[in-house]
Amino acid sequence: MKFFIDTANMDEIKEAFSLGVVAGVTTNPSLVAKEKNVSFTDRLREITELVPGSVSAEVIALDAEGMIKEGKELAAIAPNITIKVPMTPEGLKAVHVFSKEGIKTNVTLVFSANQALLAARAGASYVSPFLGRLDDIGHNGLDLISTIAEIFAIHDIPTEIIAASIRHPQHVTDAALRGAHIATVPYKVIQQLFNHPLTDKGIEAFLADWNSRS
Ligand code: E4P
Repeated sequence: MKFFIDTANMDEIKEAFSLGVVAGVTTNPSLVAKEKNVSFTDRLREITELVPGSVSAEVIALDAEGMIKEGKELAAIAPNITIKVPMTPEGLKAVHVFSKEGIKTNVTLVFSANQALLAARAGASYVSPFLGRLDDIGHNGLDLISTIAEIFAIHDIPTEIIAASIRHPQHVTDAALRGAHIATVPYKVIQQLFNHPLTDKGIEAFLADWNSRS
């Protein structure tokens, strides 16, 4: 499983990329709205100058025609822009057009296996099932990842599964075990993945022993 970072914040993206573990970026309108004094297109330019991997940028239009227009403008910013499209009939019409034109797509707000299968058949490069938001309503987001991974394997479907709406480190481990190809992880959770009290204790003990040499 690969890591993407789920943010539109440049400081977080720079820091995460310097770790060498992150392969791409996902944004959404809520994450972009947190970034003040910068336009969406300028921020996407900044991100794509730093990040060679997939950078997901979400369309706002709700009709296929509007999504296709917006998506083409976003895709023109850089060759590694992936157009993020909501899981609706209009969204899939747009995905179908993008896929024929060689523009990568990430179908977002996926909450069922059938939605994932439809998105894949429309030509989606990625599908994003939302773990945390399913957990919030008492459903099991991890079972959904397993089911989608199994269906894609049985039918030899190349669409990649991005485990999204990740809330804590256990989601990351479980998404990897359940067959997600990618987890898109908020910066705070990336930091949490490093933590183990025995690592800290071990470093402290090694340093104390080193400093006590006579
Ligand atoms: C990523 O593609 C999603 O937009 C994001 O993970 C949603 O996360 P949230 O449910 O914490 O808003």
